[in-house]
Amino acid sequence: PPLSRILNLREFEEIAKSVMSYKAWAYYSSASDDEITYSENMRAFSRFFFHPRVLVPVSKCDPSTTILGFGSPIPVFVSGAGLARLGHPLGEANITRGAGRTNIIQMVSSSPSLSYGQIAESRISASQPLFFQLYKHKDDKVAEERVRTVENLGYRAIFLTVDAVVSSSRERDIRAPFVLEEQEREAEQQPAANGQQMSSQEVPRKPDDVATKSADKDMNLLGTAGALVKFDDQDMSWKRACPSWMNICDTIPWLRSVTKLPIALKGIQCVEDAVLAAEAGVDAILISNHGGRQLEYSLPSIEVLYKLRKQRPDVFEKLEVYIDGGIRRGTDVLKALCLGATAVGLGRPFMFAQSAYGEEGVVKTVQILEREIVTSMRLLGVTSVKDLVPEMVERVDWQPK
Ligand code: FNR
Repeated sequence: PPLSRILNLREFEEIAKSVMSYKAWAYYSSASDDEITYSENMRAFSRFFFHPRVLVPVSKCDPSTTILGFGSPIPVFVSGAGLARLGHPLGEANITRGAGRTNIIQMVSSSPSLSYGQIAESRISASQPLFFQLYKHKDDKVAEERVRTVENLGYRAIFLTVDAVVSSSRERDIRAPFVLEEQEREAEQQPAANGQQMSSQEVPRKPDDVATKSADKDMNLLGTAGALVKFDDQDMSWKRACPSWMNICDTIPWLRSVTKLPIALKGIQCVEDAVLAAEAGVDAILISNHGGRQLEYSLPSIEVLYKLRKQRPDVFEKLEVYIDGGIRRGTDVLKALCLGATAVGLGRPFMFAQSAYGEEGVVKTVQILEREIVTSMRLLGVTSVKDLVPEMVERVDWQPK
């Protein structure tokens, strides 16, 4: 259907499913085990209802905000997802250009299907901010090199992913293994756009997912997962005993020592870790369970945010809090903001939109969200994101049908 007929984000998923290869679709859509956290991420939003206020003048309504100091017309950014070219030949560049045209911020995955330099070059202007999602290599030097590379390319913040020390089992994906050899060959051959040849370790890692090379068809689950995490740091830490000859070995101080960019932790899943993040002095946390793709039965992101707001409102004064996972509607965005989030991230919706319609699909996704956000803000009786407060939402203990 023509893009003008698309009314909401869910429609993109249906259309993408019909135009993508089954294997690519399985990779984008799949989640861990029985996909409970995946579906609860979305369903949980339907347990939160609004307390709208009426007779409030709302003709002027401004949904803009700042995210780590960067202006954004709506409180939404793109959460990093790997291998955008599986869905569309232009892949990540569709998202970068679409984000640039609508002035929203894209977080670029550590495992893209274009080089970090090519993505930076796809920006519509040099001032378009990009954030970088970091999978930390177990060798600090290699990890540092990657951080410096993206810093030199102009990326403006580092989102360290902390919920993926191992890859979980995504069964639909395993049953429909896709072959990435072609992309891998390309990535190996093409120098990164900053002139550096990527080493084999620096080739964007295969997705945080169970992608199986054809040669590895017989790999069992453990073998595949093992191969995928080969280079990733499984010993990241808040605090651990350092041998005396090491200056810094805890992960956050290490990251602080190698970059001046703002640091966010992506994949905080409970109140306790949000508190530790604030103590560690990071600039932001992204409450996320990787879209249900990592620990099955991790709580839905909106529930974690709700608990954090209730139990530790002080955390919101120390850092910016974002959530991702299951956000598909403007009302979902507003619920998160009422509960203290500065902004929200979306993963799959942008991947499906660019798969189905390229760059235009990304632009349309932002337009739909903006329309839904502004409409619901007005009906809620607010004209600015700072007016969105916890008293405006109520969590019910029943599940709407
Ligand atoms: C992801 N996600 C992800 N996260 C990350 O830190 N690094 C990555 O490379 C990827 N790759 C990736 C690929 C695909 C296909 C998906 C769907 C997701 C997780 C992503 O950043 C985000 O947390 C979730 O997608 C948010 O949930 P929704 O919006 O997809 O429900």
